[in-house]
Amino acid sequence: MIIENYDLKEQTWFKVGGRAKFFVDIKSKGDFLNLCQELPEYEPVKKYIIGACSNLIISDKGFAGLVIKNSVDFVELIDDRWHVGGGTLLPVAARQIVARGYAGLEKIGNVPGTVGGAVFGNVEAHKQSISDHIYEVEWCNFDGSCELYKKEDCDFGYRTSKFKQDFQKEGVILGVRFEFPVGDTDQLRIQLNEDKARRRECYPQDPSCGCFFKNIKLTKSNRERIGKVLGEASISDRKIGDNFSVGMLLDKLGLKGTKVGGAMISPEHANFIINSGTATAQDVYDLYMKIKLAVKERVGIDLENEVQFCGEFEE
Ligand code: EPU
Repeated sequence: MIIENYDLKEQTWFKVGGRAKFFVDIKSKGDFLNLCQELPEYEPVKKYIIGACSNLIISDKGFAGLVIKNSVDFVELIDDRWHVGGGTLLPVAARQIVARGYAGLEKIGNVPGTVGGAVFGNVEAHKQSISDHIYEVEWCNFDGSCELYKKEDCDFGYRTSKFKQDFQKEGVILGVRFEFPVGDTDQLRIQLNEDKARRRECYPQDPSCGCFFKNIKLTKSNRERIGKVLGEASISDRKIGDNFSVGMLLDKLGLKGTKVGGAMISPEHANFIINSGTATAQDVYDLYMKIKLAVKERVGIDLENEVQFCGEFEE
């Protein structure tokens, strides 16, 4: 099952990255349990879980451990509850669920990535979040034990969950159960298609990882800092506790088009770093650091990345 020296680059949306020392693709709970039995031969080994690699930059040096790809893929309606595999692509699940007339994914169903990855980072767009209708999450540890976490125990927050905060590399989201409300199939399908068209129009189509940074939570001091640099008008309609778009901030700071090697801040949406064709993972990392430094120096705010990094990068 476990493959050595596996090239990860083609797995990624950004089309950068090196090789995994060990790699395994798990397609079912059975595969996962087999892996748990094989693991003692490899321990101690660093582990990294990947889904569709749509929100991940893998180092050019690769990963000197075991990369586990979650491809556990199923979408089933059982007694009004949807059971979805953690490795199922969110757009694939969303199409099937919408086609049966269930609401809750029509605004986020075009976000690239797996359902497990979406739950890990609590994907949200247009005030709809993957966690809204979760009933429970099946989390499996590398000792082969599995636990069901009810929604209220998953610590969902803005772009975060218990799985991201507390036990990142210790197990896998094998399945997610949702209780979606019933809606109007035709209406939901229109919404899903309109969102797809909007994403195509507003977001860059070059390889990227979506929004690179988390938006800024407006504390009293952040609000003042942004107001001082961008002008009061830019924040006059924002309250303490609101989020401020990093895309808007980087755009107003004139950073669109900034490049390091082949990595560039998208001219279309400034919170997207794109691969203009020749980017390395290190180019992306260097551009990420450059943006963080510019915002720290000019606005006094520490940006936090939404995109995840895997492996080692040169500082
Ligand atoms: N804007 C600019 N310049 C830019 C980018 C944005 O002026 O370069 C302006 C837009 O015109 C708009 C405002 O900033 O008035 C907000 O932009 P947008 O609607 O694109 O939302 P966002 O805050 O940048 C967030 C999420 C997106 C999600 C959208 C829609 C984060 C980090 N990003 O973006 O999520 O799709 O809202 O709900 O929270 C992602 O997570 O990968 C992602 C793209």
